[in-house]
Amino acid sequence: MHDVRADDWGQDGVDSDVPNVARMYDYYLGGLHNFPVDREMAQRVIGAWPTLPAVLQLNRAFLRRAVRLLARQGVKQFIDLGSGLPTVGNVHEVAQGEQPDARVVYVDIDSTAVLHSRLMLVGNPGATVLQVDLRQPEQVLNHRDLRWQIDLDQPVALLAVAVLHFVPDSDDPGKVMAAYRDALAPGSHVVLSHASQDLEPEAAEKVTQLYARSGNPIQFRTHADIAAFFGDFDPVDPGLVLPNDWHPELADAPLIDVGGVSGYCGMASKP
Ligand SMILES: C[S@@+](CC[C@H](N)C(=O)[O-])C[C@H]1O[C@@H](n2cnc3c(N)ncnc32)[C@H](O)[C@@H]1O
Repeated sequence: MHDVRADDWGQDGVDSDVPNVARMYDYYLGGLHNFPVDREMAQRVIGAWPTLPAVLQLNRAFLRRAVRLLARQGVKQFIDLGSGLPTVGNVHEVAQGEQPDARVVYVDIDSTAVLHSRLMLVGNPGATVLQVDLRQPEQVLNHRDLRWQIDLDQPVALLAVAVLHFVPDSDDPGKVMAAYRDALAPGSHVVLSHASQDLEPEAAEKVTQLYARSGNPIQFRTHADIAAFFGDFDPVDPGLVLPNDWHPELADAPLIDVGGVSGYCGMASKP
């Protein structure tokens, strides 16, 4: 495989010597925007949790189904927190495929994810990307570029898919999510997926230890802890469930069965 270096990307400030969750995730999904250090750490994680790449495919498939359902219901505004590197079936592609005037704001802390998202979005006036830490809801929601795209007085779909497990309890993700929920108009939705130790506790423990050493800590949470991120929003049927149990009828490709899946996904709406 071609060993891409930060220099090849014409990007300053990228540390290709330290594993990075955005680039590791890209590697799990079969992408090329990763360095040897990312692949080495990702391989160690896969050693501890062999089904992880397949689980992440299920996570992406859930994301596409959730966006499809909301866009078909008429939601036209999407904020995607921790959006990651571009891959197959990005949020704006699904949303604008259903609603051509849908607007999407991607938010990621990682400069590589933001650079490649920006390149992907050239020529798309309805989508933009911000490099902001999602733990700063005011910075995200008051960002000029977000306000250009998104009218917070109208319903918004706020996506936090496979990202809150990178926000440890010490950073109070419950408070962070409450700030986002409070800022959304009635009829808005929160869409979540999150790693959980409920089904494969031993694998979760090994993965936790590996990520702690990588400098990108991960925190698995229980079903109850994840459900709490929805606050007092109304759960959307079928609730917080394993990925393949969430509206399989909306799938754009056959769903694979990977056995134990250490994560839950779901959606809730603001009354
Ligand atoms: C596992 S990827 C998930 C990507 C996408 N949401 C998905 O589910 O396919 C997690 C992403 O969250 C980003 N991230 C982690 N912590 C973040 C933070 N505090 N603020 C914004 N983005 C963050 C990482 O850079 C990475 O791109």
